[in-house]
Amino acid sequence: MKKKLKCLSNFFLVAFFILFLCLQCNCEDESMEAPMEKWEQEALYSAIQGFVGKWWNGSDLYPDPCGWTPIQGVSCDLIDGLWHVTELRIGPIHDNSLKCAPNVVLTLYIFSLKHLKSLSFFNCFNSPFHQPFKIQTDMWEMLSGNLESLEFRSNSGLIGGIPETFGHLQKLQSLVLVENGLSGQLPTNLGNLVSLKRLVISGNKISGEIPSSFGGLKNLLILDLSRNALSGYLPYDLGGLHSLLKLDLSSNQLGGQIPEKMENLQNLTLLDMSNNRFSGGLTKSLQEMISLKELVLSNNPTGGDLKSIKWQNLIGLSILDLANMNLTGGIPDSISELKKLRFLGLNNNKLTGGISQKLAHLPNVSAIYLNGNNLTGELQFSEMFYGKMGRRFGAWNNSNLCYQVGFSSTKNVPFGVKPCGEEQVTIHETLINEKSHAITSLGCSTFGVEGLWFMVIVEIFIFELAFNL
Ligand SMILES: *[C@@H]1O[C@H](CO)[C@@H](O)[C@H](O)[C@H]1NC(C)=O
Ligand SMILES: *[C@@H]1O[C@H](CO)[C@@H](O)[C@H](O)[C@H]1NC(C)=O
Ligand SMILES: *[C@@H]1O[C@H](CO)[C@@H](O)[C@H](O)[C@H]1NC(C)=O
Ligand SMILES: *[C@@H]1O[C@H](CO)[C@@H](O)[C@H](O)[C@H]1NC(C)=O
Ligand SMILES: *[C@@H]1O[C@H](CO)[C@@H](O)[C@H](O)[C@H]1NC(C)=O
Ligand SMILES: *[C@@H]1O[C@H](CO)[C@@H](O)[C@H](O)[C@H]1NC(C)=O
Repeated sequence: MKKKLKCLSNFFLVAFFILFLCLQCNCEDESMEAPMEKWEQEALYSAIQGFVGKWWNGSDLYPDPCGWTPIQGVSCDLIDGLWHVTELRIGPIHDNSLKCAPNVVLTLYIFSLKHLKSLSFFNCFNSPFHQPFKIQTDMWEMLSGNLESLEFRSNSGLIGGIPETFGHLQKLQSLVLVENGLSGQLPTNLGNLVSLKRLVISGNKISGEIPSSFGGLKNLLILDLSRNALSGYLPYDLGGLHSLLKLDLSSNQLGGQIPEKMENLQNLTLLDMSNNRFSGGLTKSLQEMISLKELVLSNNPTGGDLKSIKWQNLIGLSILDLANMNLTGGIPDSISELKKLRFLGLNNNKLTGGISQKLAHLPNVSAIYLNGNNLTGELQFSEMFYGKMGRRFGAWNNSNLCYQVGFSSTKNVPFGVKPCGEEQVTIHETLINEKSHAITSLGCSTFGVEGLWFMVIVEIFIFELAFNL
C-alpha cells in the first residue's frame, strides 16, 4: 500500500515536472509517454502472451512495461534515449512471475526484441498433456548482437536437438540447458562461442562425442556436461581450456584414458568424471592439477596403482573420491598429508597392505571409506576415533583386517571388522561371538533409532561372513 502511494506520488512528481517542461518549451503531449517504441512494446506483449496464454492483456495490465508498470521478469535499459527490453525471465520463480500456459508457444515476436541480453525459461515447456516442444532452429541470429545469457532449465517437455544456430550467438557468455529432454549430439559450432564463460548442458539425453572444437572455448570457467549419454574419448584439446575452474563430466559413457593434457588445467578446483568408463590407469596429469579441491573419479574401471600419484601435490583437496575404480597397491602416506580432506573414498577397489594410523590425524575429516578392499593387518586407531566416526569409518569387507582389542569400553569399535586374535576360532563360534559382540557393543543406545536397523545389517553381514569363510 505504502509502496503504491509512493509510486503514485512519484508519478505525480514526474508528471508535474513534465508539465513544467511543457510550459517551458511548449512541447507536445507525446512526451508524457515513456520513450519506448510502440512496435517493441507490442512485440513484448505478444511474446509474453504466447507463453502465458491469450487471457493476458499486456496493454491493459501493464501500459508502461519499462516505466511505472513493470512486469515481473522483464527488465529494460535506456539505450540512446529509448527504453529497450534487455531481460526476459519466464517461469515460476516468484509468486507474481510470468507462468507458462499448457499450450505455450514461442512466438517469433521474441526475436524482434533485439536488445535482449538475457533470456531464460524455467519450468515452462513441460505440459504432459500437449505434444512435446522443440526449440526452433532459425531466427536465433537475430539476437546475436546482444544476447549474453540463454537458459532453458527444468523443461521436461523440451525435446529434440540443441539448435546449431546457438553457435551464432557471438556475445553469449552463459549457455545453460539443464534438466530438459534434449537429445542428439553437441553441435560442433558451439565451439565458436569464444566469449562463453559457462556452458552447462547437464541432465539431458545428449549422445555422441564431445566435439574437439570445445577446446577453443578459451574463456570457459565452468563446463558441465554431466548426466547425459556422451561416449567416446575426451578430445585432446580439452586440455587447452586453461581458465577452467569446474569440469563435470560425470554420469556419461565416456571412455579411454584420462588425458595427459589435462595437466594444463592449473586453475581447476573441481573435476568430476565419476560414473563413466575411463580406463588405462591413473595418469600423471592428476598430480599436476594443483588447484583441485574436489576430485571425484569413482565408478570407473580405471585401474592402476594408487601409489603412482604424488598426492601431496594436491594440498588443497577436501574431497577425494576414488571408489570402485579397480585400483591396486597400498594406501600411500602422502594421502595423510592432505590436511584439508573432509571426505576420503577408496572403497571397493583391490587395495592391499596396511592402514596407516596417520589417517586419524586429518583434522577435518568426516568420512573415510576403505571397505571392500584386501587391506590387511591391525587397525590401530583410538577408541575416540571410532566413536567419533561411527560408520563413516568404513573398513568392513577386508577379510584379513582386524582391530586391536583391549579398550576400556567395547562400545566404539569399527563396524564390520573382527577383533584381532579371533582368526583361529571355528566358523560356528565366530558366528556366535561376533553376533553377541555386535549386539552388546553396538546396541541401540549408541546408535539411537538407527540401532535396530543396524543390528539387522550386522546379522546379515555375519551370516554372509560365516558362509563365505
Ligand atoms: C486489451 O484490452 C484493451 C482495453 O481493455 C482492448 O482494447 C484490447 O482489445 C485488449 N487486447 C487483447 C489482445 O485482448
Ligand atoms: C588462474 O587464476 C589466477 C588467479 O585467479 C589468474 O590470475 C590466472 O589468470 C588464471 N589462469 C588462467 C590460465 O586463466
Ligand atoms: C581390473 O584390473 C585388472 C588388472 O589389474 C583387469 O584384469 C580387470 O579386467 C579389471 N577389471 C575391470 C572391471 O576393469
Ligand atoms: C578445518 O575446518 C575449519 C572450519 O571449517 C577451518 O577453519 C580450517 O581451516 C580447516 N582446517 C584445515 C586444515 O583445512
Ligand atoms: C588378498 O591378499 C592376500 C595376500 O595378502 C591374497 O592371498 C588373497 O588372494 C587376496 N584376496 C583377494 C580377494 O584378492
Ligand atoms: C561385502 O561384500 C559383499 C560382496 O562382495 C556385499 O554383498 C556386501 O554387501 C558387502 N558388505 C557390506 C557391509 O558392505
